[in-house]
Amino acid sequence: MPISHRGNAPDNATLIGFTNLRQARTTRPMVIEKGRGIFLIDENGREYIEGTSSFYSAALGFSDPELVEAAVRQMHQLPAYASGLYRTVPAALALGEKLAAMAPMANARVTFGSTGSEANDFLIKFMRFRNGHRGEPKRVKIIARALSYHGATVTTAPLGGFPGTARAFNLPMDEVITVSQPDYVNAALPGESEAEFSARMLAEIEQAIEQAGPATVGAMILDPVSFSAGCVVPPVGYLPGLRGLLDRYGVLLFDDEVINGFCRTGSMFAAQTFGFRPDCMTLAKALSAAYFPISAIVMDGDFYDALERGSDEEGIFSHAATYGGHPVAAAVALRTIEIIEERDLLGHVRRVGPRLLKHLASLDGHPMVFNTRGVGLGGAVQLHSLPDNVGARGRAMQDAMMAEGLLLRVVKDSINFAPPLIITEAEVDELFARFTRALAAVERTERT
Ligand SMILES: Cc1ncc(COP(=O)(O)O)c(C=O)c1O
Repeated sequence: MPISHRGNAPDNATLIGFTNLRQARTTRPMVIEKGRGIFLIDENGREYIEGTSSFYSAALGFSDPELVEAAVRQMHQLPAYASGLYRTVPAALALGEKLAAMAPMANARVTFGSTGSEANDFLIKFMRFRNGHRGEPKRVKIIARALSYHGATVTTAPLGGFPGTARAFNLPMDEVITVSQPDYVNAALPGESEAEFSARMLAEIEQAIEQAGPATVGAMILDPVSFSAGCVVPPVGYLPGLRGLLDRYGVLLFDDEVINGFCRTGSMFAAQTFGFRPDCMTLAKALSAAYFPISAIVMDGDFYDALERGSDEEGIFSHAATYGGHPVAAAVALRTIEIIEERDLLGHVRRVGPRLLKHLASLDGHPMVFNTRGVGLGGAVQLHSLPDNVGARGRAMQDAMMAEGLLLRVVKDSINFAPPLIITEAEVDELFARFTRALAAVERTERT
């Protein structure tokens, strides 16, 4: 019997995040009961297109029978076992090997967590272990870009400096250095070229390192295309220049591919799309198409070797997580990657992505649209903000899109698109048709 939950309790026991808690407790949330491809059905039988893949995660849509089968097969064979203490399971070993071979890094090594937050949190912990054992215990500060999101834990929530995720929870910020998001569209000076803008962003980072004291800075973490900041695509020269700058200061580059990884930006990993070499990558979400919680930390050989030397000194690397390398999660992730390869989803993204981006670009010049942008199979439409009311149009669009049966992530007045990788060209057209109808509805309401 499928689990159902009926009734309209005005006092929900379940806390649902990124909400106003009182409102979420006392009103019935949207309850999704079923999914098929890119479509979802809620408890009232209403159908929606999930145009941002449910937190950018459900890369293969919501009904892939082969992933279900992979999970069931592993459930029957061995449903649970922890990796640690010289024990593991075949799926964890096979997945580690696969990711190490795919990663754009030399001699990559892999370990697992359950969530993107955990992957970033563990990676920062590993960095501290590494630096401590290299005789640089003070190298603990992390540079992050404003309006980034790297996780929900005490260590990761402050990375990005959203007031709601860090200050509001009274989290320690002393070891976080926040620099600007390289948002050329919104932050360029009059007449500034993209290359000049990138140079200015890099100068700001250099200054921040100098100010913090170079010997205290361990790493910079970034998501190459920042969806949390409204789909900010890195400006020309920024990432290659950044790599050189960080190398000069011995600062590591942590590439958070939790959203960007697995074809989203038009390559398997965004590091390939934008041509830079990360020291470590974190993966989650599309890694298992979100059918099972799993994340991965991929380290290049040098970073890993330092961990191994530290472990020799200690006699042990005292780190593991009960669900890191969970057999069912690893089996689902392996099958996800096989499907991405077998069905050539990278080729598919390269064919379908331009259609989405063409639709978005067709709104350039629309009286309500400030800018459109995108890369691969992701993009955004940024609306002109209403004077003194930033976010009001975004909220109006949210309601109008819901009425049209379209779920997209709204960031202030930007609306992000990142549909499941399996979306067809006809479905892209349908998604965009719903979006333009919603836009027209908001335009009409504003006129009356
Ligand atoms: C870029 C990025 N990194 C890390 C995370 C954290 O992942 P999780 O929610 O699985 O902990 C997210 C979540 O949205 C993310 O977008």
